Amino acid sequence: MRSVLAFVLLVGTGVFAAQAPPPLHVSRQSATDLQIGSRYITYQELLQLPQEKFPSDDSNFPKPAQLSGVSLQELKKLYGAPGDLVVALCQDGYRSNYSTAYLGAHHPVLVLTVDGKPQAQWPKSEDENHVGVDMGPYLIADPHFKPSFKVLSHTDEPQIPFQVVKLEFRNEQQVFGAIAPHGNYAPGSPEVEGYRIAQQNCFRCHNSGAEGGQMAGITFTMIGMMAKSSPDFFAKYVRNPQAVNPKSKMAGSPQYDDQTIAALRAYFTTFTTGEQK
Ligand code: HEC
Repeated sequence: MRSVLAFVLLVGTGVFAAQAPPPLHVSRQSATDLQIGSRYITYQELLQLPQEKFPSDDSNFPKPAQLSGVSLQELKKLYGAPGDLVVALCQDGYRSNYSTAYLGAHHPVLVLTVDGKPQAQWPKSEDENHVGVDMGPYLIADPHFKPSFKVLSHTDEPQIPFQVVKLEFRNEQQVFGAIAPHGNYAPGSPEVEGYRIAQQNCFRCHNSGAEGGQMAGITFTMIGMMAKSSPDFFAKYVRNPQAVNPKSKMAGSPQYDDQTIAALRAYFTTFTTGEQK
């Protein structure tokens, strides 16, 4: 019913041609397709959607560049539902989670061109764990990032993944619910503060079942066991993983003070007790 009504309204206002999104493909058309859920959209089709242009100002681009692409909000409007969380999945199992709050505050964009050029001609990554690799097929950038929240010594961080291969539109409560602390804790308690930090930080690489990043292969429960049995190791690993393990691929958080580490410890420890998920 809703789509029929929308069709009539759009035809009536004469904007149907401009508004109809390209239907997604059931099978991959090319290596540079973006997967959306279980379907695919080609690079050329993405270029036909409304484009935004802005200068780069994040760490993926040590030299200034002009970026253009489609906002995640536009993609969500076309292919998702209003309350959805947008999850960007990367080749190596890293995941960025864009809550509705993040989308509203930072307006992230799926980048299609860098200095007017397609993926194959983008500059290579200079990230310490990915030196010299291609940043395509897709990367995400925030036009003018200004932190929008602070929890203890965790400040809102730009979510700017590269090698993005897939987007998913998901129920926010379901995805973040997978890492809710086990047990009931009041807002403002260390467990809840730790939860809010983990949603933006640890969850990018660490999983709880099928949810969260699959890059580390170390679950929230395993981290919880470590936080409980070896608090000093946990604190050191979170602040500076390369000092403990020179080959570590984990992003350190050297700015976390003792209270922040204690909140994370309290939060992760809940996964070792109480109800099992
Ligand atoms: C950029 C990805 C990434 C992020 C973000 C991340 N980790 Fe990790 N973490 C890893 C990887 C990969 C490993 C496996 C060993 C390594 O490369 O360090 C790991 C290992 C660990 C270990 C050591 C496990 C062991 O067996 O030695 C702990 C503890 C840990 N992570 C906790 C955390 C916590 C807590 C957070 C959030 C504050 C976090 N990680 C955020 C990628 C990440």
